[in-house]
Amino acid sequence: MTLNMVIGAQWGDEGKGRVVDLLAAEADFVARYSGGDNAGHTVTVGEQTFKLHLIPSGVIQPHTVGLLGNGMVINPIVLLEEMEKLRQAGVVINPERVRISYAAHVITPGHLALDKAREMARGDEKIGTTQRGIGPAYNDKTARGGIRMETVLSQETFADAIEANIEKVNRQLTSLYGTPPLDAHAVAQEYAGYARTLAPYVGDVSGMLAEALESDQSVLAEGAQGTLLDLDHGTYPFVTSSTPTAPGVLVGLGVGVGKVGRVLGVTKAFQTRVGEGPFPTEVFGDAAIRLRGTGENPWDEFGTTTGRPRRVGWLDGVLLRYAARVNGLTELVITKLDILSALDPLRICTGYRVNGDRLENLPLGPSDLSPFEPVYEELPGWEEDIMGVQAWENLPPQARAYIQRIEELVGLPVNLISVGPERDQIVQR
Ligand code: GDP
Ligand code: IMO
Ligand code: MG
Repeated sequence: MTLNMVIGAQWGDEGKGRVVDLLAAEADFVARYSGGDNAGHTVTVGEQTFKLHLIPSGVIQPHTVGLLGNGMVINPIVLLEEMEKLRQAGVVINPERVRISYAAHVITPGHLALDKAREMARGDEKIGTTQRGIGPAYNDKTARGGIRMETVLSQETFADAIEANIEKVNRQLTSLYGTPPLDAHAVAQEYAGYARTLAPYVGDVSGMLAEALESDQSVLAEGAQGTLLDLDHGTYPFVTSSTPTAPGVLVGLGVGVGKVGRVLGVTKAFQTRVGEGPFPTEVFGDAAIRLRGTGENPWDEFGTTTGRPRRVGWLDGVLLRYAARVNGLTELVITKLDILSALDPLRICTGYRVNGDRLENLPLGPSDLSPFEPVYEELPGWEEDIMGVQAWENLPPQARAYIQRIEELVGLPVNLISVGPERDQIVQR
């Protein structure tokens, strides 16, 4: 049948996990295609809140199969811990339910150490990575020196590969960064044990998906990170090392182009970012606290993976239009509309000003946004708490006008509006 995609349209943390959980009700397979445990996806169902880093959020729906595609980089320790946590929460995790592509890459303790050492060495120019070893693991992959998940099928081969990786990393740690070396042999022994546990989960994800799409089964791709963190299309160099945009789904799962259906871009009703890099509509002071929260609500803007306070600002329509273009989005999903209640007026950035000229679109993509000053349009806010609203007609007229203005600015329909973290806190139009 079809391959539908849920893609982050901003700098990550748009609420993709929450949206995937909802749409997974109609999917047979849910698949992650990029990134690793730099992702933190939150799903709230009743009293239970799940925080997923590697396993697709769709597995919370009991009928689905979760797939980890070849485009991912996987830390075995984090994966095993996550499997255990999910089991304790009552989610069935076994090789029938979760499959890992043989061609996904392994994150080693060497990659973690290098990520930290490189960030330290960059000093003021640091990227602000999640320090999960993501960049170094993709470096090894593209340099054709990485370790693929298929290696776990032989404990001995896996241990040898890990030992060789740590020895290689140690040369860099000691000579380039003045950091103490890791114990390659001890790490290799430890990892041999993980190989045995993970081996039954390794399979041909691309082949499974081909079969599913030839039959009448439906597949949902779960984006990690977001468009503006894409290695090619994001705010380079303040990006991640993979392809979170829609084309990354095809490469990262080994699926052809013919089966693509809906491409849903998820955006918050405002803008956030963790880590360094440009952010034209960022706000500070009291306005920032109002959008971020102070940490008392579980949805306040503090990173799911790192706990870092997220930077916050007004919705950036220029960047959202750009995301629609580079992904070929077919629709938008807006999350966290509830956060804008009791804020008046609301602002949306509709263009950028540079040297007295007004731009509607980015002349050279989003890497250097520093010359641009956002041009804002003000819209009236609303007072009501909307977290219990489930019908479009019951949203305050100002909230409907805000959504309609976004549709107009981006040229895409908004069919799903999230007004709270829980599964049923959703307005379906
Ligand atoms: P992801 O990385 O895109 O899956 O997003 P995260 O899970 O990192 O961050 C989104 C946060 O917002 C989580 O705490 C969600 O529970 C929460 N959330 C999602 N949608 C809504 C919403 O509509 N309203 C509120 N208040 N919280 C939401
Ligand atoms: P989800 O899937 C938000 C950011 C980091 C940093 C940059 C590079 O939860 O939306 P990396 O560790 O990937 O080398 O860091 O990317 N980043 C994210 N920001 N949400 C994420 O994932 C992110 N994954 C990476 O903060 O700025
Ligand atoms: Mg997140």
